[in-house]
Amino acid sequence: MTQTQPLVGTTPQTDPQADSPPSEPCVMLIFGASGDLTKRLLVPALYNLACDGLLNENFAVLGSANNPMTTEAFRENMNRDIQKFHTRNQFDQDVWDKLVSRFHYTPAAFTDLDAFRKLKEQVSELGARFNTGGNVLFYFATAPRFFGLICENLHKAGFKDGPGWKRIIVEKPFGTDLDSALQLNRDVLAHWEERQIYRVDHYLGKETVQNLLAFRFSNGMFEPLWNKNFIDNIQFNVAEAVDVESRGGYYDQSGVLRDMMQNHMFQMLAYLCMEAPGTLSSDAIRNEKAKLLQAVRVYTAEEVQRYVVRGQYGPQLGEGGKVVKPGYRLEKDVNPESKTETYAAARLHIDNWRWEGVPIYLRSGKALWKRGTEIIVEFKKAPQTMFRGTPVGHLGANRLIFHIQPYQGIEVQFHAKVPGPSLQLQPVHMRFSYGDAFKASRYTGYEVMLYSCSREDATLFSRGDLVEAAWRVAQPIMDYWAASPATDFPNYARNSWGPKSAADLLEKDGRRWYEVISDEVLKRVATFAEGDPLFLSQVSLALRPRQVAAGEQIIRKGDIGREMYLLARGEVEVLDDAGRVVKTLKDGDVFGEIAILMSTPRTANVRALTGCDLFVLDKSDFRRILRDHHQFAQGVAKVAKERFNLDVTVQSLIAH
Ligand code: BG6
Repeated sequence: MTQTQPLVGTTPQTDPQADSPPSEPCVMLIFGASGDLTKRLLVPALYNLACDGLLNENFAVLGSANNPMTTEAFRENMNRDIQKFHTRNQFDQDVWDKLVSRFHYTPAAFTDLDAFRKLKEQVSELGARFNTGGNVLFYFATAPRFFGLICENLHKAGFKDGPGWKRIIVEKPFGTDLDSALQLNRDVLAHWEERQIYRVDHYLGKETVQNLLAFRFSNGMFEPLWNKNFIDNIQFNVAEAVDVESRGGYYDQSGVLRDMMQNHMFQMLAYLCMEAPGTLSSDAIRNEKAKLLQAVRVYTAEEVQRYVVRGQYGPQLGEGGKVVKPGYRLEKDVNPESKTETYAAARLHIDNWRWEGVPIYLRSGKALWKRGTEIIVEFKKAPQTMFRGTPVGHLGANRLIFHIQPYQGIEVQFHAKVPGPSLQLQPVHMRFSYGDAFKASRYTGYEVMLYSCSREDATLFSRGDLVEAAWRVAQPIMDYWAASPATDFPNYARNSWGPKSAADLLEKDGRRWYEVISDEVLKRVATFAEGDPLFLSQVSLALRPRQVAAGEQIIRKGDIGREMYLLARGEVEVLDDAGRVVKTLKDGDVFGEIAILMSTPRTANVRALTGCDLFVLDKSDFRRILRDHHQFAQGVAKVAKERFNLDVTVQSLIAH
């Protein structure tokens, strides 16, 4: 008989899951145990579970990999690495010592059946010693090309025999295209049953992703609006500031479509758009997810051309065009003529009753201006006609924003009346922030997956049909790209918002990407650097992103100005009548503010020297913010003096 006593932590802060039973007893056999995943994520996750009292006392780890290493050396490595990778506020040595004493290691080549037989003996011995009831959790933390082989050798070595459950966790990527995913499913399922296979997508381990389901189905408020009658479009944005880092060899064979979209982003898409399941059982949820992904239109080549764009980052240039950081093609282990995309944006169609005609926009890329994963649900606008004859010029859309990371929260955007005698509106927002509502420690995301696998809950894992449905959507895009390699690569600069073609994709539909602008990003602009939170919040809600190509005219002399610009990235030239360059402006500069302050025609031409990412602030918002925030007015007055020798006082700006 097995006991289900938790391996309890002694740290008092660690009891967020007081009502949850511990994991099931088992031996966890990790293939690829000498690799990065084990030390960075798996072991810290086991340690978090132990600290939280969620890891069963009847538990042991058997690590295995090609590398020869003793159990003592394995433990020593883990002792060292846990100090670097644990995520607790305080390290609990007692819990760790107990945990690491259960770690063992045996080398084995994945091709060596005898070695697997030896592993089998050891698993049995550990199982008897730790009273695990014959349960074994296999974790494949190896390159995918070994998955099939390991499955086969496990089978041949007799791992399926005897009492207890046997489950396999398979790391991503699950296939590199539709055919390989189908083959992999065949290889794995040749010896094991689907219910024993747990395919990891670490996005499903994120609390904010899991909360998508909780949010949709535990609140009566939003679900009635969750369809084509009320939602105008949905945007999924996964921006990464990091480049390919040391993973050029892998990434050059992959690209962002495989690396981020068909797996992580499609999982979020399924959660956000699927029908309500009858129950919260893993089968019911995964059935709905599969149905949703099967309803995503599989594009023809012509549709790929129309609805999908790609990009590759170029170098970051400094003073005098000097390369500060190399472009993608000069990264380590990357083909210097690589056509691999490091950015992609797409408009997808979900061909079902609920979403017919609602554009679903996805974009993701590396080496971008910020790190941020957000889902933006944009509702249909209220009728503008009601506001005829009032100062309200333009009604924006209401938005519901899921901030997945690094900021974690949910935000609702709507309009409110500006206090005062006339009817003026201002975009405002309500925010729920995880950090304010919950005190939970930081997790790796793998705790919940190890825990739920041990308890036979596959909700957070991908099923074979889901993976195949995702590849079916991605495949024609990959085929089209392979047949027509990009000739314009690299087509976006490091630290930018990505290629302009992504902005154009939405512009064709009369829409634009919604940029979540954090205070941190705003503060990079000198004028906003010292801004208080209210000011920054007003500015971030009012700013509108615009991308322009090199050579494009942004301001024409003589025009009546209705907007001012913040140059987030790039260079623009201010030109006099004769076309001579009077001034060059760079990242963080503002321009165009004087004409909208004075309501006079523009005094100069402004042209983009490079591709530029601009924030546009409309006149009405500009004036409103000036009135509320004198410090901003002072900054504008200073620029007016320096650049145009205009003496404007703060009072005159506000009164104007
Ligand atoms: C991985 C990709 O699956 O996800 C990486 O291989 C990517 O390229 C990472 O950087 C992003 O994960 P996260 O959790 O940082 O958003």
